[in-house]
Amino acid sequence: VTAPYAELVDAAAARYRAAGRWAHGWARGKMGGDPAYAAVLDALADVPEGGCLVELGCGEAYLLALARQLRPDLHLVGVDHDGRRLALGRTALGDDARVTLHEADLRSIALPRVDLVACLDVLHYLPPAQQTDVLTALSRILRPGGLLLIRDAEADAGWRSTATRLSEGLMVAIGRHKGGGVYLRPRREVLDELQGLGLSASTEDCSEGTPFANVLYRARRPEDP
Ligand SMILES: C[S@@+](CC[C@H](N)C(=O)[O-])C[C@H]1O[C@@H](n2cnc3c(N)ncnc32)[C@H](O)[C@@H]1O
Repeated sequence: VTAPYAELVDAAAARYRAAGRWAHGWARGKMGGDPAYAAVLDALADVPEGGCLVELGCGEAYLLALARQLRPDLHLVGVDHDGRRLALGRTALGDDARVTLHEADLRSIALPRVDLVACLDVLHYLPPAQQTDVLTALSRILRPGGLLLIRDAEADAGWRSTATRLSEGLMVAIGRHKGGGVYLRPRREVLDELQGLGLSASTEDCSEGTPFANVLYRARRPEDP
């Protein structure tokens, strides 16, 4: 973490102070240590003035709080079906007219046209056919040149995939995450699907420093000819 990024994290995490010391400390740790957040923040540089960032499954809205710190001009939309998590996000961002936090199921919500979509550690709670439906819907709301950033665990990374299934299965079982199960898919399958939707897609490992099988997918809608 470079010095400016650490300052950004401090400022964004401070928005959670009103929720107590524990919430503030947790926000700071999560914001400072997640490489996928840094990838999304880097991508903000390509979002035009006044553009729109959507995060599906935004949880406590840590990523949106970071984005708000960096780009006050953007419209930020977060969606999560867990009202307790979203309430914390509202503590941090609730008084901002350019932020909308929807308590809703991401499978059924209507979304605006968007320049950047983030969906981090969420899709694996949905059965594969529903993941396909979500990716299809997202490909349709991306503006030309718009980017979809997905982080999720892959099915075929050996013990790392097993560790992810066990850990996420436990989280669902104890109610930490609302959801019906854990459905990992092979990286190649997701990549082919994104490309089949007309997006220019690539992947990179995103599990450094963890025992998990996380992959970052980047999928961009081509500019209009
Ligand atoms: C592991 S958390 C990740 C939170 C956030 N993306 C982050 O990186 O900090 C997964 C989130 O997805 C949300 N989620 C899972 N299935 C969902 C659905 N069908 N509709 C809306 N939110 C969902 C959960 O409530 C949870 O907040």
